[in-house]
Amino acid sequence: MMIKNKEQTVAVVGAGVIGCSWAAYYAVKGYKVNVSDVKEGYQENARVRISTLAAEIPNTDVEKAMEQVSFFTSIKEAVKGVDLVQENGPERVDIKQQMFADFEGFAPEKALLVSSSSGTVPADLSAKMVAPERALIGHPANPAHLLPVVEICGGQNTPRALVERLEKFYRDCGRVTATLNKPIEGFVINRLQTSLLREAIHLVGEGVVNVKDLDSLFMASLGVRWASIGPFLTGQLGGGEGGFRGITENILSSLFASMGFESISIETLDMLEQQTNQFYPMDKMKAFAKVRDERQKAVLEIQKSHPLPTND
Ligand SMILES: NC(=O)c1ccc[n+]([C@@H]2O[C@H](COP(=O)([O-])OP(=O)(O)OC[C@H]3O[C@@H](n4cnc5c(N)ncnc54)[C@H](O)[C@@H]3O)[C@@H](O)[C@H]2O)c1
Repeated sequence: MMIKNKEQTVAVVGAGVIGCSWAAYYAVKGYKVNVSDVKEGYQENARVRISTLAAEIPNTDVEKAMEQVSFFTSIKEAVKGVDLVQENGPERVDIKQQMFADFEGFAPEKALLVSSSSGTVPADLSAKMVAPERALIGHPANPAHLLPVVEICGGQNTPRALVERLEKFYRDCGRVTATLNKPIEGFVINRLQTSLLREAIHLVGEGVVNVKDLDSLFMASLGVRWASIGPFLTGQLGGGEGGFRGITENILSSLFASMGFESISIETLDMLEQQTNQFYPMDKMKAFAKVRDERQKAVLEIQKSHPLPTND
Protein backbone atom coordinates (compact mmCIF):
# COMPACT_ATOMS: atom_id res chain seq x y z
CA MET A 1 0.00 0.00 0.00
CA MET A 2 1.36 3.45 -0.93
CA ILE A 3 1.69 5.59 2.16
CA LYS A 4 0.00 8.91 1.43
CA ASN A 5 1.13 11.55 3.86
CA LYS A 6 -1.95 12.95 5.59
CA GLU A 7 -0.05 16.00 6.90
CA GLN A 8 -1.69 15.43 10.23
CA THR A 9 -0.08 14.30 13.46
CA VAL A 10 -1.53 11.92 16.04
CA ALA A 11 -0.16 11.44 19.55
CA VAL A 12 -0.48 7.85 20.75
CA VAL A 13 -0.09 8.04 24.52
CA GLY A 14 0.55 4.68 26.20
CA ALA A 15 2.42 2.14 24.05
CA GLY A 16 1.00 -1.17 25.29
CA VAL A 17 -1.25 -3.60 23.42
CA ILE A 18 -3.70 -1.06 22.01
CA GLY A 19 -1.31 1.89 21.73
CA CYS A 20 1.10 -0.05 19.49
CA SER A 21 -1.81 -1.27 17.39
CA TRP A 22 -3.08 2.29 16.89
CA ALA A 23 0.44 3.58 16.17
CA ALA A 24 0.91 0.94 13.46
CA TYR A 25 -2.45 1.74 11.89
CA TYR A 26 -2.02 5.52 11.90
CA ALA A 27 1.53 5.28 10.51
CA VAL A 28 0.42 3.00 7.67
CA LYS A 29 -2.39 5.45 6.91
CA GLY A 30 0.15 8.26 6.48
CA TYR A 31 -0.21 10.19 9.74
CA LYS A 32 2.84 11.37 11.63
CA VAL A 33 2.69 9.46 14.90
CA ASN A 34 4.13 10.70 18.22
CA VAL A 35 4.26 7.74 20.60
CA SER A 36 4.82 8.26 24.32
CA ASP A 37 4.99 6.04 27.39
CA VAL A 38 6.26 6.36 30.96
CA LYS A 39 7.99 2.98 31.04
CA GLU A 40 11.75 3.42 30.98
CA GLY A 41 13.37 2.23 27.76
CA TYR A 42 9.99 1.33 26.24
CA GLN A 43 11.06 2.58 22.80
CA GLU A 44 12.95 -0.53 21.68
CA ASN A 45 10.09 -2.96 22.35
CA ALA A 46 7.51 -0.53 21.03
CA ARG A 47 9.41 -0.03 17.77
CA VAL A 48 9.60 -3.80 17.16
CA ARG A 49 5.95 -4.28 18.08
CA ILE A 50 4.68 -1.42 15.93
CA SER A 51 6.63 -2.59 12.87
CA THR A 52 5.44 -6.19 13.39
CA LEU A 53 1.82 -5.03 13.58
CA ALA A 54 2.23 -2.69 10.58
CA ALA A 55 3.44 -5.71 8.56
CA GLU A 56 0.11 -7.43 9.29
CA ILE A 57 -1.75 -4.68 7.42
CA PRO A 58 -1.95 -5.91 3.82
CA ASN A 59 0.46 -4.41 1.23
CA THR A 60 2.30 -2.20 3.69
CA ASP A 61 5.72 -0.68 3.15
CA VAL A 62 6.80 -1.15 6.76
CA GLU A 63 10.01 0.84 6.46
CA LYS A 64 8.13 3.84 5.09
CA ALA A 65 5.46 3.50 7.76
CA MET A 66 8.09 3.46 10.52
CA GLU A 67 9.57 6.71 9.18
CA GLN A 68 6.32 8.33 10.32
CA VAL A 69 6.79 7.25 13.96
CA SER A 70 8.67 9.23 16.64
CA PHE A 71 9.11 8.28 20.29
CA PHE A 72 8.75 10.55 23.33
CA THR A 73 9.01 10.16 27.06
CA SER A 74 6.83 13.10 28.06
CA ILE A 75 3.19 13.78 27.25
CA LYS A 76 3.98 17.49 27.03
CA GLU A 77 6.37 16.95 24.10
CA ALA A 78 4.31 14.20 22.43
CA VAL A 79 1.08 16.20 22.18
CA LYS A 80 2.66 19.49 21.06
CA GLY A 81 1.06 20.63 17.77
CA VAL A 82 -0.93 17.42 17.16
CA ASP A 83 -4.35 17.10 15.53
CA LEU A 84 -5.57 14.22 17.69
CA VAL A 85 -4.47 12.54 20.91
CA GLN A 86 -5.31 8.84 21.23
CA GLU A 87 -4.94 7.85 24.89
CA ASN A 88 -4.11 4.20 25.66
CA GLY A 89 -3.00 4.23 29.28
CA PRO A 90 -4.07 1.59 31.80
CA GLU A 91 -7.80 1.33 32.59
CA ARG A 92 -7.35 3.34 35.80
CA VAL A 93 -9.40 6.44 36.24
CA ASP A 94 -6.79 8.34 38.31
CA ILE A 95 -4.13 7.86 35.61
CA LYS A 96 -6.50 8.76 32.77
CA GLN A 97 -7.73 11.89 34.62
CA GLN A 98 -4.17 13.20 34.94
CA MET A 99 -3.46 12.37 31.29
CA PHE A 100 -6.52 14.30 30.10
CA ALA A 101 -5.59 17.28 32.27
CA ASP A 102 -2.12 17.17 30.63
CA PHE A 103 -3.59 16.87 27.13
CA GLU A 104 -5.76 19.91 27.79
CA GLY A 105 -2.74 21.84 29.08
CA PHE A 106 -0.25 20.96 26.36
CA ALA A 107 -2.12 19.96 23.15
CA PRO A 108 -3.46 22.62 20.75
CA GLU A 109 -6.90 23.99 21.57
CA LYS A 110 -8.33 22.51 18.38
CA ALA A 111 -6.88 19.00 18.96
CA LEU A 112 -9.32 16.13 19.45
CA LEU A 113 -8.67 14.50 22.86
CA VAL A 114 -9.71 10.86 22.68
CA SER A 115 -9.47 7.83 24.96
CA SER A 116 -9.37 4.18 23.84
CA SER A 117 -10.96 3.32 27.20
CA SER A 118 -12.94 0.09 27.32
CA GLY A 119 -15.61 1.55 29.55
CA THR A 120 -14.77 4.73 31.52
CA VAL A 121 -17.26 7.45 30.65
CA PRO A 122 -16.05 10.95 29.60
CA ALA A 123 -17.42 12.51 32.81
CA ASP A 124 -14.93 10.42 34.82
CA LEU A 125 -11.99 10.93 32.46
CA SER A 126 -12.43 14.69 32.44
CA ALA A 127 -12.74 15.36 36.18
CA LYS A 128 -9.52 17.43 36.25
CA MET A 129 -10.14 19.35 33.02
CA VAL A 130 -11.12 23.00 32.72
CA ALA A 131 -13.23 22.16 29.63
CA PRO A 132 -14.48 18.61 30.40
CA GLU A 133 -16.67 18.55 27.31
CA ARG A 134 -13.49 18.06 25.23
CA ALA A 135 -12.97 14.49 26.53
CA LEU A 136 -14.08 11.96 23.91
CA ILE A 137 -14.12 8.18 23.57
CA GLY A 138 -12.79 6.39 20.49
CA HIS A 139 -12.94 2.78 21.68
CA PRO A 140 -11.42 0.31 19.22
CA ALA A 141 -11.73 -3.46 19.14
CA ASN A 142 -8.55 -5.47 19.67
CA PRO A 143 -6.49 -5.76 17.43
CA ALA A 144 -7.11 -2.12 16.57
CA HIS A 145 -4.90 -2.17 13.44
CA LEU A 146 -7.08 -4.90 11.87
CA LEU A 147 -10.65 -4.55 13.18
CA PRO A 148 -12.20 -1.45 11.62
CA VAL A 149 -14.82 -0.49 14.20
CA VAL A 150 -14.49 2.46 16.60
CA GLU A 151 -17.15 3.12 19.22
CA ILE A 152 -17.48 6.89 19.70
CA CYS A 153 -18.97 8.66 22.69
CA GLY A 154 -18.93 12.23 23.96
CA GLY A 155 -19.88 13.53 27.42
CA GLN A 156 -23.28 14.95 28.41
CA ASN A 157 -22.15 18.47 27.47
CA THR A 158 -19.99 17.67 24.46
CA PRO A 159 -21.12 19.75 21.46
CA ARG A 160 -22.47 17.59 18.63
CA ALA A 161 -20.06 19.36 16.24
CA LEU A 162 -17.06 18.01 18.18
CA VAL A 163 -18.38 14.44 17.99
CA GLU A 164 -18.94 14.94 14.26
CA ARG A 165 -15.32 16.08 13.85
CA LEU A 166 -14.16 12.86 15.49
CA GLU A 167 -16.49 10.74 13.33
CA LYS A 168 -15.05 12.42 10.26
CA PHE A 169 -11.48 11.93 11.44
CA TYR A 170 -11.96 8.18 11.88
CA ARG A 171 -13.90 7.79 8.64
CA ASP A 172 -11.14 9.67 6.75
CA CYS A 173 -8.60 7.18 8.05
CA GLY A 174 -10.66 4.17 7.06
CA ARG A 175 -12.41 3.23 10.29
CA VAL A 176 -16.09 2.38 10.66
CA THR A 177 -17.72 4.42 13.42
CA ALA A 178 -20.70 3.84 15.66
CA THR A 179 -21.66 6.74 17.92
CA LEU A 180 -23.54 6.21 21.17
CA ASN A 181 -26.51 8.53 21.84
CA LYS A 182 -25.37 8.92 25.44
CA PRO A 183 -22.51 7.76 27.66
CA ILE A 184 -22.85 4.55 29.69
CA GLU A 185 -20.16 2.64 31.65
CA GLY A 186 -18.69 -0.15 29.48
CA PHE A 187 -20.21 1.41 26.34
CA VAL A 188 -22.00 -1.06 24.06
CA ILE A 189 -19.34 -3.56 22.96
CA ASN A 190 -18.09 -4.30 26.45
CA ARG A 191 -21.54 -4.37 28.04
CA LEU A 192 -22.48 -7.09 25.53
CA GLN A 193 -19.18 -8.91 25.86
CA THR A 194 -19.15 -8.73 29.65
CA SER A 195 -22.74 -9.96 29.99
CA LEU A 196 -21.91 -13.03 27.92
CA LEU A 197 -18.66 -13.67 29.77
CA ARG A 198 -20.35 -13.29 33.17
CA GLU A 199 -22.82 -16.01 32.21
CA ALA A 200 -20.04 -18.22 30.77
CA ILE A 201 -18.10 -17.90 34.04
CA HIS A 202 -21.28 -18.70 35.99
CA LEU A 203 -21.96 -21.85 33.91
CA VAL A 204 -18.42 -23.18 34.33
CA GLY A 205 -18.37 -22.15 38.00
CA GLU A 206 -21.60 -24.10 38.62
CA GLY A 207 -20.13 -27.17 36.88
CA VAL A 208 -22.74 -27.12 34.09
CA VAL A 209 -20.06 -27.33 31.39
CA ASN A 210 -16.26 -27.09 31.20
CA VAL A 211 -14.27 -24.26 29.58
CA LYS A 212 -13.49 -26.15 26.36
CA ASP A 213 -17.03 -27.42 25.80
CA LEU A 214 -18.45 -23.96 26.40
CA ASP A 215 -16.04 -22.50 23.82
CA SER A 216 -16.88 -25.29 21.35
CA LEU A 217 -20.62 -24.77 21.80
CA PHE A 218 -20.21 -21.04 21.36
CA MET A 219 -18.07 -21.29 18.22
CA ALA A 220 -20.46 -23.76 16.58
CA SER A 221 -23.60 -21.72 17.27
CA LEU A 222 -23.66 -18.09 18.39
CA GLY A 223 -20.14 -17.43 17.07
CA VAL A 224 -21.17 -18.37 13.54
CA ARG A 225 -24.48 -16.55 13.78
CA TRP A 226 -23.17 -13.35 15.32
CA ALA A 227 -20.26 -13.15 12.87
CA SER A 228 -22.99 -12.98 10.23
CA ILE A 229 -25.86 -10.92 11.67
CA GLY A 230 -26.72 -9.19 14.95
CA PRO A 231 -29.07 -10.38 17.70
CA PHE A 232 -32.07 -8.28 16.62
CA LEU A 233 -32.02 -9.41 12.99
CA THR A 234 -31.57 -12.94 14.33
CA GLY A 235 -34.80 -12.49 16.30
CA GLN A 236 -36.66 -10.91 13.37
CA LEU A 237 -35.69 -13.90 11.19
CA GLY A 238 -36.28 -16.48 13.91
CA GLY A 239 -39.79 -15.33 14.78
CA GLY A 240 -41.41 -16.41 11.52
CA GLU A 241 -44.34 -14.22 10.49
CA GLY A 242 -44.38 -12.59 13.92
CA GLY A 243 -40.78 -11.35 13.56
CA PHE A 244 -38.96 -10.12 16.63
CA ARG A 245 -42.19 -9.53 18.56
CA GLY A 246 -43.30 -13.07 17.77
CA ILE A 247 -40.14 -14.77 19.05
CA THR A 248 -40.19 -12.58 22.15
CA GLU A 249 -43.77 -13.46 23.02
CA ASN A 250 -43.49 -17.14 22.08
CA ILE A 251 -40.04 -18.10 23.35
CA LEU A 252 -37.99 -15.30 24.94
CA SER A 253 -40.57 -14.35 27.58
CA SER A 254 -40.75 -17.89 29.01
CA LEU A 255 -36.93 -18.20 28.88
CA PHE A 256 -36.66 -14.88 30.75
CA ALA A 257 -39.16 -16.10 33.37
CA SER A 258 -37.50 -19.51 33.86
CA MET A 259 -34.08 -17.87 34.33
CA GLY A 260 -35.47 -15.30 36.76
CA PHE A 261 -34.84 -12.29 34.48
CA GLU A 262 -37.03 -9.19 34.66
CA SER A 263 -39.76 -9.39 32.02
CA ILE A 264 -39.78 -7.06 29.00
CA SER A 265 -42.32 -4.23 29.39
CA ILE A 266 -45.00 -3.67 26.74
CA GLU A 267 -43.52 -0.22 26.00
CA THR A 268 -40.07 -1.69 25.34
CA LEU A 269 -41.54 -4.49 23.24
CA ASP A 270 -43.52 -1.96 21.18
CA MET A 271 -40.35 0.06 20.62
CA LEU A 272 -38.35 -3.05 19.63
CA GLU A 273 -41.06 -4.14 17.22
CA GLN A 274 -41.19 -0.69 15.64
CA GLN A 275 -37.38 -0.56 15.19
CA THR A 276 -36.93 -4.15 13.99
CA ASN A 277 -39.68 -3.60 11.39
CA GLN A 278 -38.13 -0.27 10.38
CA PHE A 279 -34.59 -1.63 9.90
CA TYR A 280 -35.51 -5.18 8.80
CA PRO A 281 -38.87 -5.00 6.96
CA MET A 282 -40.76 -8.30 6.99
CA ASP A 283 -41.16 -8.25 3.20
CA LYS A 284 -37.33 -8.44 2.87
CA MET A 285 -36.87 -11.44 5.16
CA LYS A 286 -36.02 -13.84 2.34
CA ALA A 287 -33.21 -11.57 1.14
CA PHE A 288 -31.85 -11.15 4.68
CA ALA A 289 -32.00 -14.92 5.29
CA LYS A 290 -30.10 -15.60 2.07
CA VAL A 291 -27.23 -13.30 3.07
CA ARG A 292 -27.23 -14.70 6.63
CA ASP A 293 -26.87 -18.23 5.27
CA GLU A 294 -24.12 -17.35 2.77
CA ARG A 295 -22.17 -15.63 5.53
CA GLN A 296 -22.72 -18.50 7.97
CA LYS A 297 -21.50 -21.02 5.41
CA ALA A 298 -18.39 -18.87 4.80
CA VAL A 299 -17.63 -18.64 8.54
CA LEU A 300 -18.05 -22.42 8.92
CA GLU A 301 -15.67 -22.96 6.00
CA ILE A 302 -13.07 -20.67 7.56
CA GLN A 303 -13.38 -22.50 10.90
CA LYS A 304 -12.88 -25.83 9.10
CA SER A 305 -9.88 -24.67 7.06
CA HIS A 306 -8.24 -23.04 10.11
CA PRO A 307 -8.59 -25.62 12.90
CA LEU A 308 -7.39 -24.69 16.38
CA PRO A 309 -4.15 -26.35 17.52
CA THR A 310 -4.71 -29.46 19.64
CA ASN A 311 -3.02 -30.33 22.92
CA ASP A 312 -1.74 -33.73 21.73
N1 LIG B 1 -6.38 -4.78 25.35
C1 LIG B 1 -7.57 -4.71 24.78
O1 LIG B 1 -8.13 -5.72 24.30
C2 LIG B 1 -8.29 -3.38 24.67
C3 LIG B 1 -9.27 -3.21 23.69
C4 LIG B 1 -9.90 -1.95 23.53
C5 LIG B 1 -9.54 -0.91 24.41
N2 LIG B 1 -8.60 -1.11 25.38
C6 LIG B 1 -8.28 0.01 26.26
O2 LIG B 1 -7.05 0.58 25.81
C7 LIG B 1 -6.32 1.11 26.93
C8 LIG B 1 -4.94 0.47 26.96
O3 LIG B 1 -5.09 -0.93 27.16
P1 LIG B 1 -3.89 -1.95 26.87
O4 LIG B 1 -4.48 -3.30 26.86
O5 LIG B 1 -3.11 -1.45 25.71
O6 LIG B 1 -3.01 -1.75 28.22
P2 LIG B 1 -1.45 -2.02 28.42
O7 LIG B 1 -1.27 -2.28 29.87
O8 LIG B 1 -0.97 -3.03 27.44
O9 LIG B 1 -0.79 -0.62 28.05
C9 LIG B 1 -0.85 0.52 28.84
C10 LIG B 1 0.41 1.34 28.60
O10 LIG B 1 0.26 2.61 29.20
C11 LIG B 1 1.52 2.97 29.75
N3 LIG B 1 1.33 4.04 30.74
C12 LIG B 1 0.97 3.94 32.04
N4 LIG B 1 0.90 5.17 32.58
C13 LIG B 1 1.20 6.07 31.60
C14 LIG B 1 1.31 7.49 31.53
N5 LIG B 1 1.05 8.24 32.60
N6 LIG B 1 1.66 8.06 30.35
C15 LIG B 1 1.90 7.30 29.25
N7 LIG B 1 1.81 5.94 29.26
C16 LIG B 1 1.48 5.35 30.42
C17 LIG B 1 2.07 1.67 30.30
O11 LIG B 1 3.48 1.71 30.51
C18 LIG B 1 1.67 0.69 29.19
O12 LIG B 1 2.67 0.57 28.20
C19 LIG B 1 -7.16 0.81 28.17
O13 LIG B 1 -7.95 1.92 28.46
C20 LIG B 1 -8.02 -0.37 27.71
O14 LIG B 1 -9.22 -0.49 28.43
C21 LIG B 1 -7.94 -2.30 25.51
